[in-house]
Amino acid sequence: MTDVLVDVRGVKVHFPIKRGVIFDKTVGHVYAVDGVNLQILKGETYGLVGESGCGKSTLGKAILNLETPTEGSVEFDGTDIAALKGKELRRKRQDIQMVFQDPMSSLDPRQSVESLLTEGMKAHGLADDKEATRKRLRELLSAVGLPPSALSKYPHEFSGGQRQRIGIARALSVNPKLIVADEPVSALDVSVQAQVLNLLEELQDEFELTYLVVAHDLAVVRHISDRIGVMYLGGLVEESEAGELYETPLHPYTRALMSAVPVPDPAVEDQREQILLMGDLPSPSKPPTGCRFHTRCPWRQETRCDDERPELRVVEIDGVTPGHRVACHWAEQIAAGEVERHEVTATMTEQSGPDEVDDGPPQYFVDPL
Ligand SMILES: Nc1ncnc2c1ncn2[C@@H]1O[C@H](COP(=O)(O)OP(=O)(O)O)[C@@H](O)[C@H]1O
Ligand code: SF4
Ligand SMILES: [Mg+2]
Repeated sequence: MTDVLVDVRGVKVHFPIKRGVIFDKTVGHVYAVDGVNLQILKGETYGLVGESGCGKSTLGKAILNLETPTEGSVEFDGTDIAALKGKELRRKRQDIQMVFQDPMSSLDPRQSVESLLTEGMKAHGLADDKEATRKRLRELLSAVGLPPSALSKYPHEFSGGQRQRIGIARALSVNPKLIVADEPVSALDVSVQAQVLNLLEELQDEFELTYLVVAHDLAVVRHISDRIGVMYLGGLVEESEAGELYETPLHPYTRALMSAVPVPDPAVEDQREQILLMGDLPSPSKPPTGCRFHTRCPWRQETRCDDERPELRVVEIDGVTPGHRVACHWAEQIAAGEVERHEVTATMTEQSGPDEVDDGPPQYFVDPL
């Protein structure tokens, strides 16, 4: 028996960049996901955060078997999902459901809520008995806090938050084990975001669900997650139990992300570390060598940072538990204050991919202090 539901091992998803009208010439690759190891435990909520474009959705798709990894494997409940076909694949598809960012575009506007909710059930043979189906629909609506009258309505008749409730009911309709929620509240008003996150939390126990919640915003994953993985340019740079990540962020990138989350207490707000990252994320078609964060890192060192890619590893630091892993060569020294924060030297990072690809002018990263 294992309590691991999803086991992602060495997953890479590289997209070829093609050029040419007649001959499809591959001129480079987008290294969207570039070597990720992570486990999602049964019953937990794993939060995955990182800037837009760092590969979160692509990793989510690899877990959903919607994107085939270039390398590595994804096991779901002990089975390699890439090897599944036919009936077994359909069965796994039922076990893993998705909640999307924008419920308006993920719900067909021409279908009533009843039809939207029964579609998946029908596909998986769960809607054969009319009476049982009707009962199930009422249960689903009540679980997500919508009245039975919602069944005959259409998506445009609901608010954004209500539409996301329909999206969640739809995911729940086929009794999944895992729900991958990709930016589930990013399109919603801030006042509604907490309600939808609370709902997801309530449903977790009731339906024995495991969640992967993907968001670019640390504030969103903060309360809902048991563990959090921080992604930067296709790789995990830190992973920890949620509370510990906020108490003791170890990776310079995580510290920068944390410093951007506002704190309501002005006294705390005044004292806390401010790290402003300059420049955009380098292009994933030409990621920096060594530590991918070195072009923006205020703790970058002369040795190792530029040419040696750090592994996600357990560190021995006071107050840091073994489940807390970080991909930084200097994590211990930074935590001990032996390696100090310094100005980021202006570096020119080539943004373009291979010669033929022009992504615009090069970006300059300047001193963030
Ligand atoms: N199908 C695809 N073909 C080519 N590039 C893609 C494809 N899907 C995503 N990408 C690229 O991969 C990178 C990661 O994208 P994505 O996983 O959507 O990031 P995130 O969800 O973190 O914003 C981006 O540079 C994106 O443009
Ligand atoms: S390895 Fe070097 S560049 Fe990377 S995060 Fe650590 S100190 Fe910064
Ligand atoms: Mg995304």
